[in-house]
Amino acid sequence: MELLPLVCLCLLSCSGETSAAGDGVKVLVKEGSDAVLPCSLRPKEDITRQTFDWRKDESQKDVFFYNSGIHSDNSNIGQDEQFKGRVSHFQDQLKNSNASIKIIKTKMVDSGNYSCIFPNLQPRQTFIIELVVGQVLRDRTGENIPGAAPKPNIDILADTKTRVCCSVKLTVIHLLQ
Ligand SMILES: *[C@@H]1O[C@H](CO)[C@@H](O)[C@H](O)[C@H]1NC(C)=O
Ligand SMILES: *[C@@H]1O[C@H](CO)[C@@H](O)[C@H](O)[C@H]1NC(C)=O
Repeated sequence: MELLPLVCLCLLSCSGETSAAGDGVKVLVKEGSDAVLPCSLRPKEDITRQTFDWRKDESQKDVFFYNSGIHSDNSNIGQDEQFKGRVSHFQDQLKNSNASIKIIKTKMVDSGNYSCIFPNLQPRQTFIIELVVGQVLRDRTGENIPGAAPKPNIDILADTKTRVCCSVKLTVIHLLQ
């Protein structure tokens, strides 16, 4: 079935906050909304007693640090001004090896490449997540569900490719049914 690869690609670009991009993961959000940056260790292990460190770009800006329950949100561990009070982890997810973070009220300057690093593992593990914060081109107030990672909509970044892709996806799925 030759159409299948196309379906997969389209689902990736339309369906949510993450998509495979190069060696990493890409998260698209509208400016002002919240972003969840995913990071999970495999195989699964409880990371409640682990250390993980989120850094941004080549400058290695401190985004979020966690070490056995002590973290940027409950201590004075160095955190860049840009992220003060805006980044949290998911405490109840740590036992599922999930070190994802949430950045609230994203700004354009938050765009960039984030690394999620487990410095104490042998070998040390690093995951790269690219965040793209786009301008809201149309007013769609009322669409954001508080607390939920916003779905990047087709109006973000005026991405005509995605738009085309979405209609292709619908057509293909229709054909398959
Ligand atoms: C990690 O936790 C976040 C927040 O609960 C959730 O959105 C995400 O799906 C989880 N990731 C995995 C791989 O379970
Ligand atoms: C993130 O890294 C990728 C791959 O190195 C690069 O192409 C992209 O421009 C970077 N993104 C930002 C916002 O710096």
